Amino acid sequence: MNFHIMTLFPDMVKQGLSESIIGRAADKGLLSIDAVNIRDFTLDKHKKVDDYPYGGGAGMLMQAQPVYDAWKSIADKLSQKPRTIYLTPQGQTFTQQMAKDFAKEEDLVLLCGHYEGIDERVLEEIVTDYVSIGDYVLTGGELPAMVMVDAVSRMVPGVLSNDESGATESFEGNLLEYPQYSRPEVWMDKAVPKVLLSGNQKEITAWRKARAVERTKERRYDLYQKYEALQQCREILWKKKLLHMDMIEVIDRGTAELVYADGENICIHDKVSDTYFHTADSMEEGRKMISCVKEQTGGRIGQLVLHQDFMVEPAKEEFDLYLSVACYQAVYTRREKLPVSKLYAGEEPLSIRPLTLAYMDQVLEHYKLVSDPDYIRQVIVSGSLFGAFLEEKLVGFVGWHKEGSMGMLEVFPEYQRRKLGKTLETYIVNLTLERGHTPYGQVVVGNERSMRLQEGMGMCFAKGLVYWMHSKNK
Ligand code: ADE
Repeated sequence: MNFHIMTLFPDMVKQGLSESIIGRAADKGLLSIDAVNIRDFTLDKHKKVDDYPYGGGAGMLMQAQPVYDAWKSIADKLSQKPRTIYLTPQGQTFTQQMAKDFAKEEDLVLLCGHYEGIDERVLEEIVTDYVSIGDYVLTGGELPAMVMVDAVSRMVPGVLSNDESGATESFEGNLLEYPQYSRPEVWMDKAVPKVLLSGNQKEITAWRKARAVERTKERRYDLYQKYEALQQCREILWKKKLLHMDMIEVIDRGTAELVYADGENICIHDKVSDTYFHTADSMEEGRKMISCVKEQTGGRIGQLVLHQDFMVEPAKEEFDLYLSVACYQAVYTRREKLPVSKLYAGEEPLSIRPLTLAYMDQVLEHYKLVSDPDYIRQVIVSGSLFGAFLEEKLVGFVGWHKEGSMGMLEVFPEYQRRKLGKTLETYIVNLTLERGHTPYGQVVVGNERSMRLQEGMGMCFAKGLVYWMHSKNK
């Protein structure tokens, strides 16, 4: 990922970002940090970049021309208009979720202001996002830009050495991180909690969860309330757990935001896949959710998953969505892993591993259900697509969709009838369990072959269907 920082103080940002984890990631080539000196682009013979504001008022403004030319020197080297962030106290407050979203960009331009601000006309021309790092005023945008580069960089795959550390930490699922301890076992008469020395991973996980909840309640009551509200929804959803496993998983993975809840009428939004999920016990109740979501979103939603057929027509009318597929939901309800013996038994050794972007074309060629290359790219980059290889030749794949369901199972035609489908499906079920999630998948109505495969693996089907609605504009 490439950061392009537009500033009057390039040395300040370069020095500030040259050490520790960010410096190392840059040395490894995972990041590049380029500081562009706006002053180099002024046409003024005294190298001036500021002037008085029209209409009077305190202070000086940065002029449009040098800012625009500096930006143009960056943009001209890129294939598309880059996402350009202006650091300003007037922006949206920076969050962990924004850090994750920005980390998906290949190039990010950060514009640091100085003096009393920047001529509005150039901002209108180049800026895509206005971001503040908090409700206080600093002397310039350099420190905020450095804060953002740090937070965004650690969400770039490979920057943190331990894959896990990006996921189980403060703010995931509205909870702060649990307390941690290292050697010695006793320090200043304080002993490390016994459970952490027990070696019992299940008890350790439960203890950590309880401490995280307790700490969040004490220190961040606002987050705790969000956590509690989602847990109450989860209890209601659990009464029909096969039908609602997609919603339950989004809550358990910590990526859900509560949109609407009134008894059995629940709507949540998954921040990762930008999908709304809704369930209701009557159309009348469901319609109430629709008006509330319309108010919150202005009616512009890209994807909605419904759990009752009576909601399909109202969603079409009110959101201008169309029904793209109806699916059976299959859930693996046991905790034990599936046996891996008696699966693929061909001559050549089989290996299954995460796919890299080098396989993108082969995936697109063989996977017919999603034809959007950008979706496939994101699934691959997030490490969610796994390829089966026979003698280093890709022969099939399987993975997790963005919202967490298992899918994208394909075995290339000349390699079918060798139990490779079952092998890949077993692999993804077991890996889902290892990561502490519930394996579930969705089978498009009419796909008998997939139904039989899921049944054969002991998956349980929900009675009702789930309905994927998509925007006509996407
Ligand atoms: N520039 C000055 N103050 C700022 C803040 N709080 N956030 C972002 N940019 C700023």
